[in-house]
Amino acid sequence: MSYRIALNFEDGVTRFIDCHPGEKVLDAAFRAKVNLPMDCSDGVCGTCKCRAEGGAYDLGEDYIDEALTEDEAQAGLVLTCQMVPSSDCTLAVPVTSAACKTGTSSFKAAVVDVVPHQDAALELKLEALGDAPAFLPGQYVNIAVPGSGGQTRSYSFSSPPGSDAPAFLIKRVPGGLMSGYLNSASPGQVLELTGPLGSFYLRPVTRPVLMLAGGTGLAPFLSMLAQLEASGCEQPVYLMYGVTRGADLVLVEQLQGFAQRLDFFSFDTCVVDPASRHPRIGYVTDHLMPEALHDGQVDVYLCGPPPMVDAVRNHFTDLKVEPAGFYYEKFTPNAPANRSQDLAA
Ligand SMILES: Cc1cc2nc3c(=O)[nH]c(=O)nc-3n(C[C@H](O)[C@H](O)[C@H](O)COP(=O)(O)OP(=O)(O)OC[C@H]3O[C@@H](n4cnc5c(N)ncnc54)[C@H](O)[C@@H]3O)c2cc1C
Ligand code: FES
Repeated sequence: MSYRIALNFEDGVTRFIDCHPGEKVLDAAFRAKVNLPMDCSDGVCGTCKCRAEGGAYDLGEDYIDEALTEDEAQAGLVLTCQMVPSSDCTLAVPVTSAACKTGTSSFKAAVVDVVPHQDAALELKLEALGDAPAFLPGQYVNIAVPGSGGQTRSYSFSSPPGSDAPAFLIKRVPGGLMSGYLNSASPGQVLELTGPLGSFYLRPVTRPVLMLAGGTGLAPFLSMLAQLEASGCEQPVYLMYGVTRGADLVLVEQLQGFAQRLDFFSFDTCVVDPASRHPRIGYVTDHLMPEALHDGQVDVYLCGPPPMVDAVRNHFTDLKVEPAGFYYEKFTPNAPANRSQDLAA
């Protein structure tokens, strides 16, 4: 048996390494050919300091206070040359992956199905060829669009971590490169994926959680909720899911399923379109009850198109609420596609 250690580098790249029971993280990383920052490897210099963002571990006893103070240890900092995990762990490494002589992983997966949701979105369902891709719930991959000369698009996993059936929820963009490909994708076609990437992932839940999703920004929350269902959760988790038109509300039945099964989870939806018959018309910020903010003692996760993310951040500033934890992902579109490189129609 060994523990899975997620190393999240400053540039958003994540590498997973296996750490044997009793093994120090620095040694496990070295075995995996990842050169984590280090100098003395003896608990003296502090060069190997990282932030533990989840998991159980022993800090070790052979380090001096100058390398890691009591306050730093209390705040979750660790010395990887001393730290011995006793569960799977997540570590934020304060340098780039290139500085550690590593980089993104890539894997292949075959198309199983593309499920349309009216004109709003598509669910891309894949089957991993080889090991199931490791990722943290909330992270994304870059998918190369077949026939596009290597162009890629980023998509957040909507499937649970550890699943060998990666899935994605993808907005239909008229004339879009990936949208165009998915309209004619056939089962069995092999896709190249690079990742996992990103620092938008579920942290250990130690206080109430507020999830705010805009459109297909729902995807990472489906993965996070699956993880919470598997691990259990003792804090309330509330999701507000906002879309532009009524037809854009997709996979609500999955949210209803989570809400029925999980007593800690509840959600609401809202629609911007004033012509909609939806009971909540407006933006997510229009319908956010003060209770959902728990006087700031809340971890906020926010994902959607850039204008929505910016609007929510401004809303918190206006309310003078500073959430204890605040994590967001913007679904920034690529620069307009170069039509000459697009797929043949
Ligand atoms: C970290 C990250 C994670 C992402 N995760 C997801 C995800 O899980 N699901 C998802 O649907 N998208 C996600 N995106 C957005 C995604 O990567 C693509 O930008 C999007 O799917 C459009 O790709 P396309 O090839 O279909 O269109 P493109 O060929 O890239 O674009 C065609 C035209 O449409 C415009 N356009 C692109 N996107 C939009 C849009 N959303 N609304 C209006 N116009 C647009 C472009 O500017 C361009 O002019 C993510 C983006 C990032 C950065
Ligand atoms: S490498 Fe010097 S304290 Fe860890």
